[in-house]
Amino acid sequence: MTTYKIAVIAGDGIGPEVIAEGIKVLDEVARLDGGFRFEFTHFPWGCEYYKETGRMMAEDGIEQLKAFDAIFLGAVGAPGVPDHVSLWDLLLKIRKSFDQYINLRPVKLIAGAPTPLKDVAIEDMDMTFVRENTEGEYAGSGSWLFRNQPNEVVIQDGVFSRKGCERVIRYAYELARSQKKSLTSISKANALNYSMVFWDQIFKEVGSEYPDVETRSLLVDAAAMFMVKDPKRFEIVVTSNLFGDILTDLGAAIAGGMGLAAGANLNPERNFPSMFEPIHGSAPDIAGQGKANPLATVWAASQMLDFFGHEAWGKRLIDCIESVLTEGEVLTPDLGGTATTDQVGDRVVAKLKEASL
Ligand code: NAD
Ligand code: IPM
Ligand code: MN
Repeated sequence: MTTYKIAVIAGDGIGPEVIAEGIKVLDEVARLDGGFRFEFTHFPWGCEYYKETGRMMAEDGIEQLKAFDAIFLGAVGAPGVPDHVSLWDLLLKIRKSFDQYINLRPVKLIAGAPTPLKDVAIEDMDMTFVRENTEGEYAGSGSWLFRNQPNEVVIQDGVFSRKGCERVIRYAYELARSQKKSLTSISKANALNYSMVFWDQIFKEVGSEYPDVETRSLLVDAAAMFMVKDPKRFEIVVTSNLFGDILTDLGAAIAGGMGLAAGANLNPERNFPSMFEPIHGSAPDIAGQGKANPLATVWAASQMLDFFGHEAWGKRLIDCIESVLTEGEVLTPDLGGTATTDQVGDRVVAKLKEASL
């Protein structure tokens, strides 16, 4: 029997609440399959740990995580700890240390998910964002000069390496080719006259190896507009770290809300563990009240199953989410219901069981 060793970093706020449901669902999938099992190891890292120890993770945390097949992460961030400390010393540190340079984020409307857009059919919103995940605007390079003086200056560099751009763009072309879909590159070369001119150039260069893939290029401002006005023009999308962050929250909003949006942080070479997470934050406004929607985390679990080669189970989980949504009886308040986080998790488990009868 295959055992998947999963490092669980439930983190802060609603993180532990939604992760508990993700684990419940994964355990049920393994039980029903019978051919594999999950071994979950919990790490108490996050803002509480920081308040006690002055660190967001153990000093040898990255070393400890190397032994796992995947990381399942809830959310990071809490009032009282500066966000740039909590995120840089945990979530971003893992993405960068493990070279998880692909951030795969589906923006897919499924039956029963409430879109605020008018007249959009389910099949008209089926995008996959391939977000660059280790450099670009998030390189962490810059300086802060003359602090607290009248001539204070801050500089935040964007770092776009040839290797970094080529590999994410190539990954997106491969995905588009294998799924026989179009590929849209989103950039901003009219204003960002170094980084995005370079990005566009590499998109063209790599594209010469993929004459079979239909391509489009959009400026990010226009892309945001078209995602709302005409979402069906997007299939596979490749973009930079910051643009991908912003546009996938927009994507979440049009595809049913933050409670449904998931992301996979992939190291495609599998030299290091990949990480699966809901894309929402720790939602301090609803934490500890059983109101958090766990379906984004269940969707992230589905991405984990895909990554392990269990695509049929990955798809089955999405079908179960869809079934919970269309039935509409057990939903959290963000989707107009009154159910608690664990009731929604239980409902997904019930749907898994029904589908297996
Ligand atoms: P957020 O995603 O935490 O919350 C935005 C809004 O969406 C809130 O109203 C929240 O209640 C709602 N929401 C989010 N997830 C939900 C869910 N599963 N079910 C129902 N409603 C949900 O974003 P924010 O408020 O900008 O950030 C809060 C904290 O989280 C900050 O510290 C931020 O830095 C951090 N953050 C962490 C991650 C991460 O760990 N991946 C991502 C984004 C933000
Ligand atoms: C996300 C989050 C993170 C990001 C933050 C918390 C650093 O917003 O995963 O979308 O911007 O990558
Ligand atoms: Mn984000």
